[in-house]
Amino acid sequence: MIECLGRAAEFKDNETGAHVMRISKMTGIVARGLGMTPHDVALVEQASPMHDIGKIGIPDRVLLKPGKLSGDEWTTMQTHSSLGAHILRDDDNDSELLKVAAEIALNHHERWDGTGYPNRLRGEEIPLFTRITSVCDVFDALTSRRPYKEPWSTEEAIKFMDDQSGGAFDPVIVECFKSQLHKIMAIKAEYPDSSDSA
Ligand SMILES: [Fe+2]
Ligand SMILES: [Fe+2]
Repeated sequence: MIECLGRAAEFKDNETGAHVMRISKMTGIVARGLGMTPHDVALVEQASPMHDIGKIGIPDRVLLKPGKLSGDEWTTMQTHSSLGAHILRDDDNDSELLKVAAEIALNHHERWDGTGYPNRLRGEEIPLFTRITSVCDVFDALTSRRPYKEPWSTEEAIKFMDDQSGGAFDPVIVECFKSQLHKIMAIKAEYPDSSDSA
């Protein structure tokens, strides 16, 4: 069910089912690299693919608009974080997985330097599972082909992650991600986008 939900959101956003799989695996690799328990590793693997589930609630004229969004459209687009948390939050159910998934959906566009959205959280105010997901999501998006861009090389993407260490990203997570890069690249190879293998 969880993977299906994640795929539903990513299809709508021109991304692919393979991206959702890769995010799951990559967040697990980083969590393991940070020394987390097998329980927490499994938790982030299952919760991270749902980060963009809120895009289901964004109108197609905004979500799929080619070219630049207007100010109002950008504001609408940004609501996908809180929409996602709203979809996943269930006060009648104390599932730890749903709680973590809602937390990741809500916070995955927060930035370490406090300039992200929706709540401008800063540093460790951003939950750890979310900080892991943001690093993996951005790296995978940069190194993937999208309708509007060619994939960046691994070197270019790593340079970006380094530049954004302490900006968008938690420096500790960036370091851990880089130390696991061989495993990350194995995941990229194992779960290619279908357009790449065609
Ligand atoms: Fe997002
Ligand atoms: Fe994503």
